[in-house]
Amino acid sequence: MSKQYRFSKDVLVEFGEIYPEQLKVVIKALREPGTKYYFRVNTLRAAPEIVLERLKARGLNALQEPSVSHVLYFEISGPNPLPTTEYRLEVDKNTAESVLLGANVYAPGVTACQGLRLGSKVTVTDKHGQAVGVGISKMNEKQILGLRKGIAVEITTPKYVVPNMRASPEFLEGLIFPQSLPAIISGLVLGPSPQDVVVDLCASPGGKTTHLAQLMRNKGKIIAIDRSQEKISRLRETIGRLHVKNVTLLCHDSRYVDRDYPNLRADKVLVDPPCSALGLRPSVYEDSTKEDIIKLARYQRQFLKAAANIVKSGGLVAYSVCTMTKEECEENTKFVIDECGLELIKQPIILGSPGVERLCLGANLAQRFAPHIHDTSGYYIALFRKT
Ligand SMILES: C[S@@+](CC[C@H](N)C(=O)[O-])C[C@H]1O[C@@H](n2cnc3c(N)ncnc32)[C@H](O)[C@@H]1O
Repeated sequence: MSKQYRFSKDVLVEFGEIYPEQLKVVIKALREPGTKYYFRVNTLRAAPEIVLERLKARGLNALQEPSVSHVLYFEISGPNPLPTTEYRLEVDKNTAESVLLGANVYAPGVTACQGLRLGSKVTVTDKHGQAVGVGISKMNEKQILGLRKGIAVEITTPKYVVPNMRASPEFLEGLIFPQSLPAIISGLVLGPSPQDVVVDLCASPGGKTTHLAQLMRNKGKIIAIDRSQEKISRLRETIGRLHVKNVTLLCHDSRYVDRDYPNLRADKVLVDPPCSALGLRPSVYEDSTKEDIIKLARYQRQFLKAAANIVKSGGLVAYSVCTMTKEECEENTKFVIDECGLELIKQPIILGSPGVERLCLGANLAQRFAPHIHDTSGYYIALFRKT
């Protein structure tokens, strides 16, 4: 199965532990996008109905997610058959996954394009030769590999069709933010109120920070932390575009905020750390090893520990990861209960399935999203309270 689906053996073992009967179905689902492309309406700027009307006026038929009124989506169409072409161009994993959804190929994403001429019809593939889209070259081989910037291939036949909302006026005016449904749910699970002091330990590019701000009606205070100036600049840009006013930015290694800011106390803390991202869709292949996963799980524990130290008594910590491995999900939940002294509690909104109880006692209070069950990315959310 590893060869057929281009997922490493370690990743298959990981998923097999959680979904032993449905492993094939899980992998097949991960290799494709879901049927819905979600985005959140920034209610600081517009009501969902206004955004729906604006999109409709431009011929875009968005629908409202029944469970959360400020969440809209488009139906994704595909897969479309791809015509055969004379030329092939190979791209990196990120580029391949964007092309699958209709994005153009930018020169930095190209890894090989032997003999390619300007204006040629070309099939874009990943490193395993899997075709992800067909387009017309806007540069020749020498320009692509020499200049390393600009559009290399304009995609004319994407495998799946999704409106490009990041180029839309609604996005540029800060009325909407593309975000997966489980990512939106994690903000709702933390449920900040306008009086709260909230700390977002891993904030950039700001999808969840800005969602928290809208739930707080731009009141209270959010301290949004990320570790590099570059990440903070991206965060500042998102916050500015969405007209968010209650955020203080902090460039810091947030694993040590408790030590470096001993007076910092929060009503609510969000821990959305780097993870193996094995739940993201579409995924054309996966090379992750068990060692990568274990390293990440250990890294995540450092943020969880810091969160437990800065949250006030009675305060909440939400933990979210866009992956499905036991180490990053239930085992880290067990770590928080056993080593950080927090209590795992029931979540105010549940659209996923319960966590796996045999991996962590009480994990049925956490929620897991699975691509083959919920038609979303694979995701895990746990909510804790400091007693
Ligand atoms: C999964 S992303 C967060 C996405 C973000 N919450 C959102 O919804 O847009 C993880 C973030 O953690 C940041 N990060 C990684 N290590 C960090 C550290 N030691 N201290 C602070 N931020 C860190 C990364 O730069 C990255 O922006």
